[in-house]
Parts: sequence; C-alpha cells; structure tokens
Amino acid sequence: MNKKIVFASLCMFLIAACTREPLKIGFSVGDFSSDRWSQEPQIFQDEATALGAQVLFEYAYGDANQQIEQVRKLIASDIQVLIIFPTSADNWAPIVEEAHKAGITVIAYDRMLKDAGVDYYFSFFNEDVGKQQAQYAVDNRPKGNYIILGGPTSDNNSLLLMQGQKNVLQPYIDRGDITILLEKHLETWNSIDAYNEMQTFLDKNKVKIDAILAANDELAGGSIMALEMVEDSMVMIITGQDASVGGCQNILNGKQSMTVYKSIRNLAREAAQASVKMAKSEKITNATNLVSDGTNEIPAVLLKTVVVDKNNMKETVIADGFIKEDQLSFAP
Ligand code: BGC
Repeated sequence: MNKKIVFASLCMFLIAACTREPLKIGFSVGDFSSDRWSQEPQIFQDEATALGAQVLFEYAYGDANQQIEQVRKLIASDIQVLIIFPTSADNWAPIVEEAHKAGITVIAYDRMLKDAGVDYYFSFFNEDVGKQQAQYAVDNRPKGNYIILGGPTSDNNSLLLMQGQKNVLQPYIDRGDITILLEKHLETWNSIDAYNEMQTFLDKNKVKIDAILAANDELAGGSIMALEMVEDSMVMIITGQDASVGGCQNILNGKQSMTVYKSIRNLAREAAQASVKMAKSEKITNATNLVSDGTNEIPAVLLKTVVVDKNNMKETVIADGFIKEDQLSFAP
C-alpha cells in the first residue's frame, strides 16, 4: 500500500478516535417506593463509570408527568442509551419514539413501559415472585382464609406478581380449600396504604386470617402494623419481596414468614455493562427472553429470584453480602 494512503488512513483513525463522543447514559429514576431504589442507581453508576461511561440521573419522586419531562431533558443531552425505571407504566410510546429518532437505545429497568416498544427490558422473573409467595403460603397453609395485597396497577410488576399468585392459588380456590377474603391492588407501594387497608378490614371483619400475600416487604410491614393494633390477630403466613432489612428483621422476629430475594446488584451491574456496550454500538447477547409490553415483544434479560425465610437467611442474603449480619438482630 502506498505510504501516503497509509498515512492518510492513520490520520483519519486518530481524528475519529479523538473526536468520538463520550459514552453517555441517561438514567431516569421514577420513585423511591422501596429501599432498593436508594441503592440501585449508585451500583449502576459505579459499574458504568468503571467501564468508561458517564451517567446522567434524573429523579421523579413518584411524579409521572415530571418523569416524562425529565426524560425529554435526558434525550436532549447527547446520550446514546436511556434507562427508564418508570413510576407509571403508561404514556411512554411518544417519548420512546422521540428517543429512537435521536438514535438513542431505550431500556426499561425493572418495570415494563406499556405499549412503548422499548429496545430492551432488564428485570427479574416477576411472575415467579408471585408464584414463590403463593407456593410458600400453600405449602404451609394449604387450607384457609387468604388476603392478597397487591402493588399499584400503574406498576406492571404488580399485575405479573398477582398473576403468578393466582396461578398457584386457583386450584386451591376451585377445590374450596382456600377462600379469598380480600384481593386488592393498593394505590401505592407505601406501607401506610397496606396499614389502612388492613385496619379497615380488621375493623369490619372478625374472621380468622390464615395468610396475607403481601406483594413486597413494605406492604407486609404495613399489614403487620395493623395486625399489632388488634388483640389475638394471629396470621400464620405473611409474605413479602425484596429482602429489605425491615422485611428480614420482621422474619427473624417471627412477624413475617418469607420474602423473595432479588439480587439488585446483579441487575444493576448487568444493565450497566449492557448499556455501555450499546453506547459503543456493540451487540448484547444475553437478552434471551421475550416479554410483551402489551403490543410488542421486548428482548429481555431476566434474573432469577430466591425464597428466603428464617431457615436460609444466612446462606442467602447474608452470604451474598446483600445485608450485613450486623444490620439484623438474630435471636440468641
Ligand atoms: C419492584 C419491587 C419493589 C416495588 C416497590 C416493584 O416494581 O419490582 O421490587 O418492591 O416495585 O418499589
């Protein structure tokens, strides 16, 4: 090859390398409805930064309209990848379209964006969380009166979870072994909502409750508070999700039966690694699942979840370093 051509190619390569845009990822955090959300953005950032990317965060604090405005701002910030953890699943289609027009890859994080056609979904097997809760309950209480307290319907995970619970419970209900006393999606993931719901129920109904399928540790905690206000209100099984410090402590204190542990560190790290690859226009190979957003089938990375109760807490959440032993007080 002619020396001049080699020299010209080398110069072009150097110019391209020097002018390559910095890797920029936008992360829109919808709310702080459970402990995990105060940790995940940081884990994501640490991983993405170590891989050479910059992460711009916006926090919507549960305000769906504000989140959409903040995402518009991120779209205009020269990002290559946009991560959305939505506080509400609805109204995203035009925004995702705007992002796509700007050449941005869009990832739904933990919760799906409905009918919006995002490029990827990173989450857990959410229906399995519901199945694990219900299976734990029927294994320990195959007959009796059940209450189902779900998360808000604005969060698609709440629907998947209840679907999973129902899949397990239905044969028991059909046989007449299990009676559902109350089944409700609460307005929010706030423990106060669960407290109010349970308090109203307990005021009106003097009936034995065998199990409360609370969708996460927050709702379990609210239910426990309401039960503690009533004399002789022994409930055998109370489920949860997230393996929060509060949930695990309630389990150790015998107030909650189980929780579902989801490694949010793995989720945040996997999403960060994939985002950096996408920002460099590299392909990812681990989105091997497909999850419907209602209209489109979205390639998804879904992580497995683990049932935790007092018998395996040390071998799971503690061994994993998710919770440190000294954050909990174990009975002597
Ligand atoms: C998540 C749960 C969390 C809940 C409240 C759901 O979408 O999957 O892990 O407990 O939101 O933040």
